[in-house]
Amino acid sequence: MSETNITENAAGHEKFRKVDPNTGCIYYLYPNVKLGKSPTIFQNAIIGFPPRGKEIGELELVIGDNAVLRPFTTIYAGNQIGDDFQTGHCVMMREGNQIGNNVILGTNAVLECNNKFGDNITFHTLSCAGNATLETNCFIGPHVIMLDDPHPICPKYKECKGGAVVKSYARIGGNVTLLPGVIVGRDTLIGGGSTVTRDIPDHAVAAGNPAKVLTTVQEQKCYPGFYDVPYEWLDGANL
Ligand SMILES: CC(C)(COP(=O)(O)OP(=O)(O)OC[C@H]1O[C@@H](n2cnc3c(N)ncnc32)[C@H](O)[C@@H]1OP(=O)(O)O)[C@@H](O)C(=O)NCCC(=O)NCCS
Repeated sequence: MSETNITENAAGHEKFRKVDPNTGCIYYLYPNVKLGKSPTIFQNAIIGFPPRGKEIGELELVIGDNAVLRPFTTIYAGNQIGDDFQTGHCVMMREGNQIGNNVILGTNAVLECNNKFGDNITFHTLSCAGNATLETNCFIGPHVIMLDDPHPICPKYKECKGGAVVKSYARIGGNVTLLPGVIVGRDTLIGGGSTVTRDIPDHAVAAGNPAKVLTTVQEQKCYPGFYDVPYEWLDGANL
């Protein structure tokens, strides 16, 4: 690419430059973005960037009310995102994702294509997922990797096992790997550093490589004694 082309391209992108009235920060808002009420946007966020092979503005991006987009967040066009969405610094979201309400993506989190997240999800720092399904109220610890291709780089991987499925109220510890297509059951707890190679039943505590069921969440102890059992503070939740 010649220097002239680079300058022209840069000028093309500069026309999408905006200033957030609350933060005073400069960010980039591409055409065909439906941004809800009261967003807070920090510097160099890029919102509605076109995926490879798509024109600027060709795909719609919807983001609900009260979004907080921290510095250097990039969200591609072709995503649907609910209310109360928050990103940490340098989050990257590619296209084809359906994201519910009250979802937090931690610093440096990466959502590849076609994930489905329900409401009330924390997807922590440095975690990464593609083609994954997370129901509701899931906690995904830091540096969790959700894989979707059993035999990389298979051209048929999208029709194969798919991404991980994480049921409601599951908690995934830090540095966990979920192999393609595994189902992590409802109200489960996966120990830090585990590799999940097989489905995990509802309410199980599982850990290790490969992850094995150790016990159930109901049988866990709160060692310092803050609670009779861990998660009793989730009073009223339909676990
Ligand atoms: C899995 C977990 C819930 C188990 O807690 P626990 O019931 O108190 O378990 P204990 O510490 O009594 O350990 C029970 C056994 O499981 C093993 N174990 C515990 N956690 C393990 C893990 N993450 N991976 C492999 N083995 C593990 C212990 O070594 C012990 O084995 P042993 O009986 O042979 O000595 C906990 O260790 C854990 O990993 N929590 C998640 C932490 C996390 O990632 N948080 C993220 C947010 S910061």
